[in-house]
Amino acid sequence: MANTILVGAQWGDEGKGKIIDVLTEQADVVVRTQGGNNAGHTVFIGKQKYVLHLVPSGILRKRKSCVIGNGVVIDPVGLVEEIGGLLKLGVKVDGNLFISETAHLVFPYHRELDAQREILKGKNRIGTTKRGIGPAYGDKAARTGLRMIDLIDPARFETLLRQKIRENNEILKAFGARPLSFKQVLAAYRAAGDRLKPFVANTVVLLHGAMRQQKDILFEGAQGTFLDIDHGTYPFVTSSNTTAGGACTGSGVPPHRMDRVVGVMKAYTTRVGEGPLPSESADLADMLHAMGREFGATTGRARRCGWFDAVATRQATMVNGIDDLAVTNLDGLDTLETIKVCVGYRVGTTRYDYVPNNIEALSKCQPVYVEFPGWRTPTDRARRWNEIPARARSYLRAIAELTGAKLTIASVGPAREQTIFL
Ligand code: IMP
Repeated sequence: MANTILVGAQWGDEGKGKIIDVLTEQADVVVRTQGGNNAGHTVFIGKQKYVLHLVPSGILRKRKSCVIGNGVVIDPVGLVEEIGGLLKLGVKVDGNLFISETAHLVFPYHRELDAQREILKGKNRIGTTKRGIGPAYGDKAARTGLRMIDLIDPARFETLLRQKIRENNEILKAFGARPLSFKQVLAAYRAAGDRLKPFVANTVVLLHGAMRQQKDILFEGAQGTFLDIDHGTYPFVTSSNTTAGGACTGSGVPPHRMDRVVGVMKAYTTRVGEGPLPSESADLADMLHAMGREFGATTGRARRCGWFDAVATRQATMVNGIDDLAVTNLDGLDTLETIKVCVGYRVGTTRYDYVPNNIEALSKCQPVYVEFPGWRTPTDRARRWNEIPARARSYLRAIAELTGAKLTIASVGPAREQTIFL
């Protein structure tokens, strides 16, 4: 399969977890390269549901190495819990998980600051997952962050943490929030450090070793293109590079060693949190929520829903260099009589065929739609391309063409077998 980067082509929650799981079958190594436990990748194996936040989904398959790369921000206590949960479900996490020494850590003060800043922003809030992601990446960029390599050196960690807690308690006090107990944080993080130490490694050396042995690597993107700190709908974004470039910087694997970029997108659009969503439709949201669909894997929040936005996915193809497309959740549209696709934006007399950077202009954008006839037939039992109704096939071909990449996977449900390769 060669080295493959998998990215979300929309606003996250595209169903990447499932597609990663399917593609992992052909990979030797699976790497997370950005984000933190704000992500929630859901994988169903049989009737068992697994939700992964930091551990790459490759962990669910035998004989795969999983790497949490340097670009990820890690809440060590959360990670220990996640590993514990996997072990309880009978998943092997021993000798198959490697955590970068240089990945930055998320602390309780990051979470508290995340929450406090959201409160302060009021109606202009981002709608973050409150996992402390923004403040942790903030520390990294300010060169004041602590890393895994610090966590596993108890004496050094204690000194650095003392300083950080002192500084952050002053900030928390200014917000009117409760200061943290250095002792409590130290105890919790020491315990997590002891537990995680066997997994900590120089993952750059490890990945290059794997490449020398001709191993195939899958880079598991989290969130989506329009949540990218540089290319998303700033400031309503996450704090990492969710686009393909993040796979290189977040792992230490150079761009020329990447062979393929797979973009995952839903057959419609969703978003959690605030910020513009030009093709948003309350009716579509009501219908999908009534079906029990579109609730967040990490926070349980109801996702906002909209029609497929080809302006956005076309831009995602551009920014990520998407070669292949995986379209998920086709079955979500099975009951509709008519399906809309956004092919342009309009503000007054100005027409956009790209996503404008001016967030106010983007908020005012009116979608220009084309309509497709619905197929009104369940697709969830389809296992082959020609078992998908003709109208659904036309719809899939049309959205792939508008997006500008090759349709290679269609997904009609959460299970592995509900995946159709073209
Ligand atoms: P943060 O990453 O928690 O700072 O949240 C910033 C924005 O990204 C918010 O709109 C979140 O809802 C969104 N976000 C973060 N992680 C995910 C994800 O895994 N899926 C979908 N949206 C996400």
